[in-house]
Amino acid sequence: MGIPRTWGGVLGGLSAFCAIAQAQTSTPSPTSSASAQFTVPAEANFAPAVIPNIKDPQAVDAQTVCPGYTASNVQQTSSGFTASLALAGNSCNVYGTDIDALSLTVEYQREDRLHVSIVPTHIGAENATHYIIPPGYLAEAEVEESNVVSGLEFSWTNDPSFGFEVTRKSTKDVLFSTKGTKLVFENQFVEFKSSLPENYNLYGLGESIHGFKLGNNYTKTFYAADAGATVDINVYGAHPFYLETRYFTEGADGKLTLVTSDETSPNSNYTSLSHGVFSRNAHGQDILMQEDSITYRALGGSIDLYFFPGPSQPEVTKSYLTTVGLPAMQQYWTFGFHQCRWGYKSWAELEDVVNNYTHFEIPMETIWTDIDWMLRYRDFENDPEGFDDESSKGFIQRLHDSGRHYVPIIDSAIYIPNPEDLEDAYPVFERGNEAGAFLTNPDGSIYVGAVWPGYTVFPDWLAEGTEQWWIDEMVRYHQTTGYDGAWIDMSEISSFCVGSCGSNNLTLQPVHVPFALPGEPGNPVLIYPEGFNKTNATEAAFASSARASWSSAYPTTSATSSASYVRTTPTPGVRDVNYPPYAINNVKGPLAVAAISPNATHADGTLEYDMHNLWGHGILKATYNALSAISPDARPFILGRSTFAGSGSYAAHWGGDNWSNWPSMIFSIPQALSMSLLGIPMFGADTCGFADNTDMELCNRWMQLSAFFPFYRNHNIIGAISQEAYRWSSVIDASKTAMAIRYQLLPYMYTLFYHAHTKAETVMRALAWEFPHDPSLANADRQFMLGPSIMVIPVLEQGATSVNGVFPGLIEGEEVWYDWYNNTAIPVPSQANTTIPAPLGHIPVYARGGSVLPLQQAALTTRDARNSPWDILVALAKDGSATGKLYLDDGVSVTPDATLHAEFKVENRKLETIIEHGGWVEENSLRNVTIWGVEKTKSPIKFNGKVVSAKNVHFNGDKHTLVVSLSSASAWTGKGWSLEW
Ligand code: GLC
Repeated sequence: MGIPRTWGGVLGGLSAFCAIAQAQTSTPSPTSSASAQFTVPAEANFAPAVIPNIKDPQAVDAQTVCPGYTASNVQQTSSGFTASLALAGNSCNVYGTDIDALSLTVEYQREDRLHVSIVPTHIGAENATHYIIPPGYLAEAEVEESNVVSGLEFSWTNDPSFGFEVTRKSTKDVLFSTKGTKLVFENQFVEFKSSLPENYNLYGLGESIHGFKLGNNYTKTFYAADAGATVDINVYGAHPFYLETRYFTEGADGKLTLVTSDETSPNSNYTSLSHGVFSRNAHGQDILMQEDSITYRALGGSIDLYFFPGPSQPEVTKSYLTTVGLPAMQQYWTFGFHQCRWGYKSWAELEDVVNNYTHFEIPMETIWTDIDWMLRYRDFENDPEGFDDESSKGFIQRLHDSGRHYVPIIDSAIYIPNPEDLEDAYPVFERGNEAGAFLTNPDGSIYVGAVWPGYTVFPDWLAEGTEQWWIDEMVRYHQTTGYDGAWIDMSEISSFCVGSCGSNNLTLQPVHVPFALPGEPGNPVLIYPEGFNKTNATEAAFASSARASWSSAYPTTSATSSASYVRTTPTPGVRDVNYPPYAINNVKGPLAVAAISPNATHADGTLEYDMHNLWGHGILKATYNALSAISPDARPFILGRSTFAGSGSYAAHWGGDNWSNWPSMIFSIPQALSMSLLGIPMFGADTCGFADNTDMELCNRWMQLSAFFPFYRNHNIIGAISQEAYRWSSVIDASKTAMAIRYQLLPYMYTLFYHAHTKAETVMRALAWEFPHDPSLANADRQFMLGPSIMVIPVLEQGATSVNGVFPGLIEGEEVWYDWYNNTAIPVPSQANTTIPAPLGHIPVYARGGSVLPLQQAALTTRDARNSPWDILVALAKDGSATGKLYLDDGVSVTPDATLHAEFKVENRKLETIIEHGGWVEENSLRNVTIWGVEKTKSPIKFNGKVVSAKNVHFNGDKHTLVVSLSSASAWTGKGWSLEW
């Protein structure tokens, strides 16, 4: 922690902390002794409690009291029409002030995109952000053509009030219908409601720690929150997009009849149709998924809906991601394994960790530092004790020489120095302040919250000079310490106190956060995962039985547990942004708790209330531009915590502060699948668990599971036991086994990413997307696909030695699945749960018949793997066919000078490889072609029409595998090659 300071002894009432976003006039009581560093009192983060509307027995249902609107004045436009909406009766002013006049715009923007917008007819420049996201902040969806032939149809009615319906033309299926419900549009409450079919299959609406299929008794709240990976409530990101999939049977007359996943039977033929809905509203909001409806209730913004007709999941995903932004292409090295922890104390310790990985021969690509690298947790200043500037150079040089990389954390909040202590000077703050880069209080004074370094200020991404200041700071720090990527944290944006709590307390700086950090006295004991005592008996004997959790170590609840809730009523024309009359189901209760207060003010007068869910996106964009300034040609690598729709164009994301327990590992799969849909394919969870202690068994299983996630990082909290892969011999073996597969598959993973970046394809995939005709897979989230060809069925249960999995393929025997380890097709019934032996250290992995997988050799770094010979693995489908793809470039450049695209195709016992060179010269030779599922071979086997010597052919008739050793140095140089067997 920071340098201890003597507390000045100024007394003041704690109630001062409840004054939200006002410069405080009094100073809090200390909680520490006179000689210790001043600790911000825990009460500083308390605010009078609210009861979420959805749980409030006194809540009024806007649908019952509001009049709705009447449409008139319809005007055709080149892409659709406009109309006026007028309040259809007396104002209800239920959770704000009703807006009398609205403008409706319907645009058939593209064949695959219908846009429906409803905004107040009169928006003044000064209150534009109450309703409209600042132009340019997010990708804008333009009307690309006129006279578009859309797959969707919009219809509307005024009976009994304005309602609309979106129908898929080809099937006449109503996808969205507000008919028969009331539209409510107030200055801080917007509600609309659509009917949905029974037992609907809805996905997305992230970020959620929840099952993959969202269910019809669930409220999804969007209010970016530093809440740990808390189940079923709002967490770090806000992505108001959903995919809905409906399954049908088709009658002889072609008529489709809807079926629900519980009505399905094996070996039937189902049609599946998917569509997508994106609500481009960034305000705090609840989305209520109920039995047969979905209701949107937002604290502001407008109705800005985009409908995507699909009708398949890949088509919906493509439509959505080409609207909000395609995922960023990552550098090749980012797919290596990353090691991080909170608590690495020096360059020397980092180097030890790196050396240990080498010593145990476990691949390790990137070493990360948490806030420990900073001098008193201040961004862009190395702590001379342990992380001195000079030593950073040698350390990073050695790391780079070995093919490895370094990524530091950069926190979102900026330390504000003690004005009375010249030695506390912090030029980063001074330069930002000069640039006008920080959020203010409504009175224009600087807004001062509290994060790791003590009292802090917060960049304002709407102020003109902020981005350039941020770029300059990142460039300047890079000259001292040559980092390879940036880890952006606390970007919700998190603050450990309510209101501008430091405004009048800066002479206490540097202060301690209002809770004991793990490992500090007063922090609860960290616990071990479930079952720890069974598989780790010796260690367990020493472990405390005390139950504690990261959430109790990191208190952010609101003050009262009594029934005295703040309920506000609307004042005509006035917005109560700190306590809006409609209380969303925010994990932290009042909006100001654990975040910057809603009335913190941006340079143009916009309130944080209107921008809260967008702050995290702003820092990712600025960081992207900063990394581009540092290395203009290289793809920026950024890991961000708070994201919004479109953030995947800039950054990767991790699952946040999970726990070292089995449920956290389970939830990482649906979270990843949902992030795939939301355009952030570069996703992974804190492997082995972040908070509390992990154990050998959990870490063993988790290191293996995460090896098949695109982003693969082990990270944990300070104070918890060490959990690098080399800490337990069984974890060493398990990690090596899974990593060997991952590193062999790197070219496949990279190719998948290229297609995500260029064509909006997904990388980690749900079974429901790959097997859309099987409704029984609608909720499968305990196993997953990596691209179209690899299926992973992990063990997710403590103590288990086997796992139940399904092998998709609706028609018995239609699909062939090959066990990765013994290379043979497995006999499995379709649609039945199959028990797979999976002792500790074994993760079941299958190649799907019909795949051609380009592989290289496993190595300790991606650089070495990338410089190794190629193997081509063919897993034949039942009919003997297979296909695959390979994309190569330099693995770094934003616009590579040279590329190689290869297509693999197998038919009639012949593999043909067609290579399109975009100038890329691949120097690694082709070593072997391995084919699984070979019934017989012909003699002789021919490569490019020439006979392959029998000594280079190994056919195992029992296992049906054929290995042809080619050692061809020229395989990648021509237009392609072929192999016949
Ligand atoms: C936040 C991050 C976590 C990090 C910690 C300390 O909780 O989510 O990953 O270790 O802050 O910086």
